[in-house]
Amino acid sequence: MYVTLLAILFASAFAQEMHLAANYSGDAFFDLWNYKSFEGTGIQLLTVYLIGVVNFTDQVFAREQNLLFVNSVGNIIMKTDNFTDGSSNSSFVRNSLQLLSKDPITPGTLMIMDAVHMPFGCAVWPAFWMNGGPNWPQLGEIDIVENINLATNNAYNLHTTQGCKASTQVQITGDLISTDCFNVTNHDQGCKVTDSDLSYGSGFANNGGGAFAFLWNDDGMKIWFFPRPTIPADLPSANPNPDTWGTPTAFYPSSTCDTTKFFGPQTLILVESTVIFSLPTSWLTTLPEICSYVQEINVCGNFAVEKFNDTCSSVAAQCTDVVPNPAAFDEAYFEIRYITTFSNSTILKANTTGGSSSSDPSPSGTAGSQTPSAQANSKSNGHSLSILGPLSVLSGAVALLFAFASY
Ligand SMILES: *[C@@H]1O[C@H](CO)[C@@H](O)[C@H](O)[C@H]1NC(C)=O
Ligand SMILES: *[C@@H]1O[C@H](CO)[C@@H](O)[C@H](O)[C@H]1NC(C)=O
Ligand SMILES: *[C@@H]1O[C@H](CO)[C@@H](O)[C@H](O)[C@H]1NC(C)=O
Ligand SMILES: *[C@@H]1O[C@H](CO)[C@@H](O)[C@H](O)[C@H]1NC(C)=O
Ligand SMILES: *[C@@H]1O[C@H](CO)[C@@H](O)[C@H](O)[C@H]1NC(C)=O
Ligand SMILES: *[C@@H]1O[C@H](CO)[C@@H](O)[C@H](O)[C@H]1NC(C)=O
Ligand SMILES: *[C@@H]1O[C@H](CO)[C@@H](O)[C@H](O)[C@H]1NC(C)=O
Ligand SMILES: *[C@@H]1O[C@H](CO)[C@@H](O)[C@H](O)[C@H]1NC(C)=O
Repeated sequence: MYVTLLAILFASAFAQEMHLAANYSGDAFFDLWNYKSFEGTGIQLLTVYLIGVVNFTDQVFAREQNLLFVNSVGNIIMKTDNFTDGSSNSSFVRNSLQLLSKDPITPGTLMIMDAVHMPFGCAVWPAFWMNGGPNWPQLGEIDIVENINLATNNAYNLHTTQGCKASTQVQITGDLISTDCFNVTNHDQGCKVTDSDLSYGSGFANNGGGAFAFLWNDDGMKIWFFPRPTIPADLPSANPNPDTWGTPTAFYPSSTCDTTKFFGPQTLILVESTVIFSLPTSWLTTLPEICSYVQEINVCGNFAVEKFNDTCSSVAAQCTDVVPNPAAFDEAYFEIRYITTFSNSTILKANTTGGSSSSDPSPSGTAGSQTPSAQANSKSNGHSLSILGPLSVLSGAVALLFAFASY
């Protein structure tokens, strides 16, 4: 009893230390991010190593095109172009967005994302994740949402250098699939935890969505997923208390992974990217210098095709067939009620109106730049989210990414 009381006291003390650091919702949402602007032509494609054809648009264009807006109930819509017909156009690129948040995530952070809908559909690959920027996986990668096509459940994952493992000794509600987070093990399978049918795709959308919460503290990293009807009442509040939320869906305890060693200081990044994982055949002949890249990408391509057949073989023979058809992207959107971050940091000031914190290591404007390590990153990770993320866009900081990709 005494011990329990002490535990509760400590827990409350921790909860009370946390304060709102950022509130990504409503009209305040737009200016909290850097917008990566990128035309999906061959060389630029190589530069960022996005395996596909995509045009990441700036904020002005995206809002003009209604790819990004606040809808009638006050939620953020971030979407892929689902109105442009790309058939009969061998150089077609589909417009989308990649947003990189200005504020960092550090140990001592709670992040919550409440969404009504997340992208799904054949050729669609959504992700909500964090990455440590250059020299992946030195500063780690944390995947909060990942799956592709018409898959029905979400997966949580970490990707690290050698020595970080998931524990089989802690209670979680998800299914622990693999324990070694080291990026070399099992072709970067990571330490993966899968979730229920309500956590992804049409199951998620038909249930009114739900909320993901990510807590990083001295205990390690915990992730909860709450289907809409089970979202704790304090989640949207100014003082959410993880101690009352029960068994997490995924838990990477510090006993088997020293998260301060394997994950660097982080910049919170919200990225929504649509990546069309197809190369126009014309590029293969007009840009022979990219063939080695294409070859390497084929690992991913094969993986993608395999996965495509898993759930989409009745829709099309291959994923590239889907790309020109705008209607195929009708479900390729996020509808986000809010993303909030809470921090125990005294440096990060609570700021719901936007702007970078003083601890932001990534000056605004670096988001569009790319480094060779981003390429190595993406190329080597056909089986992981990393392929989505030219995350090295962030210098020296771990990025939280919100991404979905069509390949
Ligand atoms: C790509 O996005 C930019 C804005 O970032 C926009 O100006 C341009 O028109 C877009 N390209 C296409 C083909 O729509
Ligand atoms: C083909 O697609 C590219 C990229 O989306 C666009 O710039 C171009 O205008 C399109 N061509 C035609 C003929 O529509
Ligand atoms: C914030 O939380 C982290 C992780 O639990 C801890 O290491 C750090 O000391 C805390 N900082 C403050 C100012 O309380
Ligand atoms: C693991 O990361 C290293 C870079 O540190 C990279 O050279 C290697 O290709 C990666 N392996 C896999 C399977 O991703
Ligand atoms: C975040 O901002 C929205 C308005 O956009 C507000 O309704 C909500 O209460 C805020 N959340 C917190 C935790 O302050
Ligand atoms: C996927 O299905 C298509 C058509 O049914 C077939 O041509 C292709 O070889 C299959 N791919 C794989 C990887 O099985
Ligand atoms: C695009 O998708 C949205 C959301 O699913 C849908 O409401 C809209 O009708 C679609 N636009 C077109 C042109 O089909
Ligand atoms: C919040 O950010 C805005 C924009 O950068 C800045 O003007 C404002 O002073 C900040 N407020 C606080 C409380 O830090």
